[in-house]
Amino acid sequence: MVPSIIASLFFRPVMDCSSTRWLRWALNCQLWKPVATQWNHANKCIQEEERQRIEQFVFQAPAISSLIGRLMLRKGIQEVIGSSNSNITFSRTAEGRPFLPGLDIIDINVSHHGDWVVLALESGARVGVDVMSMDRPINKDLREYFRLMRKQFTDNEWRQIDKSDNKLHAFYRFWCLKESYVKAIGVGLKYDLQTIDFNTSDELSRQRVIKSTKMKLKDQSSDELLFEETLLDMNHCVATCIAFSEQGLKEGVCDKPFTEVTIEHLLNLETITDEVDEGLWTRFNSKQYSAR
Ligand SMILES: CC(C)(COP(=O)(O)OP(=O)(O)OC[C@H]1O[C@@H](n2cnc3c(N)ncnc32)[C@H](O)[C@@H]1OP(=O)(O)O)[C@@H](O)C(=O)NCCC(=O)NCCS
Repeated sequence: MVPSIIASLFFRPVMDCSSTRWLRWALNCQLWKPVATQWNHANKCIQEEERQRIEQFVFQAPAISSLIGRLMLRKGIQEVIGSSNSNITFSRTAEGRPFLPGLDIIDINVSHHGDWVVLALESGARVGVDVMSMDRPINKDLREYFRLMRKQFTDNEWRQIDKSDNKLHAFYRFWCLKESYVKAIGVGLKYDLQTIDFNTSDELSRQRVIKSTKMKLKDQSSDELLFEETLLDMNHCVATCIAFSEQGLKEGVCDKPFTEVTIEHLLNLETITDEVDEGLWTRFNSKQYSAR
């Protein structure tokens, strides 16, 4: 059974698997300490409103991650449809989800957390991706933290977290899965996370992509959803939710590990404007890297 919220996401027939194009990219943003020429070039490659949004960050680290995400979106679209950067104009839904008007056969999503920025692109399916640093929360007692988060997870999920050898990692894994679904369907913070319930059966590892995790939506199986999970390193998990039509799922799916891309690869984009504010780099460079 296709829950109506998922069925309504599809605007056009799904392509068959042989013609499906996809990307899974990851970049460790700790590896990029921008210099002025790179920062200015990168900012010239993105839309004005995104440049302004990124300038609002108090610290450098989130500005860098967010900018990498924007470059990934553009480079990903460029590689898949062969369009020049200047012909790519993103919009956002009312909930903030980036999309390309007029190109609804391709879906794309990015996520940034901890050291990593990731991108997932699918054609003929909706996609949501989430990466999570599995660090212990700063200045918080773990029991108290779990108590505060109690309502975000179902009793079934808490049972799985409780019996896990590493409860914190299990907790983040479920969080990541929930976010990937929320991001695939494009709803924001208002989504009732108690209505979705995950069952995991395989351990995460760096070596492979787990595809066995199942989700129930309001107690009903969601067979048209596929979840891919892996570890980018021992401290970061990533989940990708792919929402196929019934036909798309029957075609089967391809194996999709994440490929590490370099910042040089992403910066190899043509600029879409010649002008950025002269003080852009100076203002960025004067900021502290992060709160820590
Ligand atoms: C934006 C949201 C979808 C995810 O935020 P997040 O996990 O903090 O951030 P991520 O790094 O994974 O994703 C951010 C990127 O997703 C994209 N995005 C923004 N809104 C989106 C939406 N509604 N749907 C899908 N993608 C969205 C953007 O590209 C954004 O990058 P940007 O901020 O640089 O523009 C938001 O719904 C949210 O904060 N949800 C939290 C829900 C919750 O309570 N989760 C607890 C789980 S236990």
